[in-house]
Amino acid sequence: MDELDLRFSVTYRHRILFVEDAFAPACPALAGLVGEGRVLPLVDAGLAEARPGLRAEIVAHAAARGMRLTREPLVLTGGEAAKRDTAVVKAVLAAIETDGLCRHSYVLAVGGGAFLDAVGFAVATAHRGLRLIRMPSTTLGQADAGVGVKNGINTFGKKNFTGAFAVPAAVVNDLRLLASLDLPRRREGLVEAVKVAVLKDPAFLAALEAEAPALRAGDLPAVGRAVRRSAELHARHIAEGGDPFELGSARPLDLGHWAAHRLESLTAHRMSHGEAVAVGLALDTLCARDLGLLPAGDAARILRLLAALGFRTYAPELHLDGGKALIEGLEEFREHLGGRLTLVLPAGIGSPTEVHALDPARVRAAADELRALDSAPCAARS
Ligand SMILES: NC(=O)c1ccc[n+]([C@@H]2O[C@H](COP(=O)([O-])OP(=O)(O)OC[C@H]3O[C@@H](n4cnc5c(N)ncnc54)[C@H](O)[C@@H]3O)[C@@H](O)[C@H]2O)c1
Ligand SMILES: [Zn+2]
Repeated sequence: MDELDLRFSVTYRHRILFVEDAFAPACPALAGLVGEGRVLPLVDAGLAEARPGLRAEIVAHAAARGMRLTREPLVLTGGEAAKRDTAVVKAVLAAIETDGLCRHSYVLAVGGGAFLDAVGFAVATAHRGLRLIRMPSTTLGQADAGVGVKNGINTFGKKNFTGAFAVPAAVVNDLRLLASLDLPRRREGLVEAVKVAVLKDPAFLAALEAEAPALRAGDLPAVGRAVRRSAELHARHIAEGGDPFELGSARPLDLGHWAAHRLESLTAHRMSHGEAVAVGLALDTLCARDLGLLPAGDAARILRLLAALGFRTYAPELHLDGGKALIEGLEEFREHLGGRLTLVLPAGIGSPTEVHALDPARVRAAADELRALDSAPCAARS
């Protein structure tokens, strides 16, 4: 037997810029990132509709800053529909091919987390990877999905089944992009901020509690502050957590996500990711309490904060088929991560721990409790 066993490592840079208005003529952020490079601009259709002047603003901004756009911004389907089939992926690949982009060119993608997931997958595969600048345009995107290194689409009825890890050239979190979101969407992404605060940062959780009234009202500066810290915690976890491409069996930031992913597919995505995570987070919180990991006071605090931010913490699908449909989500989650089932649960605020099994009876009891809380009068919940 003969063997060559070589090792090498590659250093990645993960840059996230926070700006107030990236397309204002005076903002130097984008031009500073792309320099002389050619840029293919892509815009989420939902965003383009909500902010009709955006395409012209992008063109004017590029002209003012000397950026080399390959065409006027191309508008493509956004939302979960972007991930449902391969249409968006193919359209991006076709535009890259038509415009003759090389591996030193940039794709500037402006849109929600789903749009960025689909576009990012195409960009990661064209010429085996072009430079991508992600500009998340939802709160959830700026607080979590958009600042990560994962891309993908849903295939075979499974979320993110086909995808790739690819570190973007940069992420630009532009606060003004959030201005065109309706109120529910504007606060929806805050659930990822609550999640990461519960796992990693007690002071951040207290700050979210203090700002809850402003956040619930969709106050943009308050949302911007929550997004800033959430993005930082998520990005630091990727860059400094030791497993950026999730080679292990654990996903330490995925509190509440096994149930959330299941709820998204059980509702055929009528529930958005954020809405589903709020329910999943509440469910895992109660399971953690009942396992004796999380003090009851902390569990109540988490549920109170979710309610204060305007989240519903129950979905009837938790009880579909006597709860069996939900429980199947555990195996689906295990399969997606690979290896042994590993769930992260809070053992106190800021103290995550891993468990490798959840008793279905315990999950059912937690779902029952959430149903009871949901139907209780509001006064009883506060
Ligand atoms: N890659 C990751 O690491 C990661 C992490 C978490 C979640 N995700 C994925 O992100 C997706 C959810 O993303 P999302 O919450 O951003 O929602 P979304 O991308 O589904 O967007 C929601 C809707 O808002 C529209 N929209 C986007 N920006 C807008 C704006 N500024 N104004 C008005 N409308 C706008 C979209 O067109 C869409 O209709 C899910 O597919 C989820 O799986 C990915
Ligand atoms: Zn999430």
